[in-house]
Amino acid sequence: MSSIGSYQARQFNLSGLQGISDQTLEVHFKLYEGYVKETNNLTERITEFISDGKVDQDEMPAYSELTRRLGFEYNGMVLHEYYFDNLKRGGGTGDPPSSSSFVKAAESTFGSYEIWKTDFVGIGKMRGVGWAICNQNPANGRLSNHWVTLHEIGNVAGFSPLLIMDVWEHAYLLDYKPAERPKYIEAFFSNIDWSTVESRLKRDQGIRSAGA
Ligand SMILES: [Fe+2]
Repeated sequence: MSSIGSYQARQFNLSGLQGISDQTLEVHFKLYEGYVKETNNLTERITEFISDGKVDQDEMPAYSELTRRLGFEYNGMVLHEYYFDNLKRGGGTGDPPSSSSFVKAAESTFGSYEIWKTDFVGIGKMRGVGWAICNQNPANGRLSNHWVTLHEIGNVAGFSPLLIMDVWEHAYLLDYKPAERPKYIEAFFSNIDWSTVESRLKRDQGIRSAGA
C-alpha cells in the first residue's frame, strides 16, 4: 500500500558564501538529505503498523518508538530547509535595512534591532547542540528568540520561524574550531538573505508600535 506521503529533498544552490565553505555546505546538504530519508522511512513504517486499522498491544513498543522519533527527524528536515533558505548565494549584506519590516518588528518587541541581535547571537553561543530561532507569534506579531536542543526540544507550537541558525558543530567544523562558534555566527550573519526573512514576516502584525 502507499504510505501517508513522502518528502523530496530540496536542492539549494548556496555557493560562494562568506566564511562558510562550499565543502561545509556539501556535507550539510547530505546530512539534510538523511533527515528527509529518515522522515519518509519512519512514516512508511508507521503506515504499515496502522494499515490494518489497529495497533496491536505487541506492536505498541516499536510503534511508540518510531512515533517518538518523528519529532527529531521532521524538525531536522524542516529546520534545515528554513536555514538554507535564509542564506543568500554569494553572501548577504550584513544587517537588514533599518526601514525593513523585520527591523521595525524587532524594535517593537525588543526596543532596538541591536538588542534583538544581542539576544539571538547570545542564544547561538549557548553550550550544547541545537538551533537559534527567531519566531513571530502570529497572534500579536511579537518576536521572540529561542534555543532549540537537538531539533525538537524548545520549538513553540504555532509560532512562525523567521530566522533560523544551525549551531550544531557540523555547520562549521570544517571552517572553524569547535571553540570558534562566534566566528561562524559572524559569518552566518554576513550571509543572511533578509528578503527571505522579510517574506516570512506577517507584515500586518509585525509593525505595531511598541506597547501595542
Ligand atoms: Fe545542520
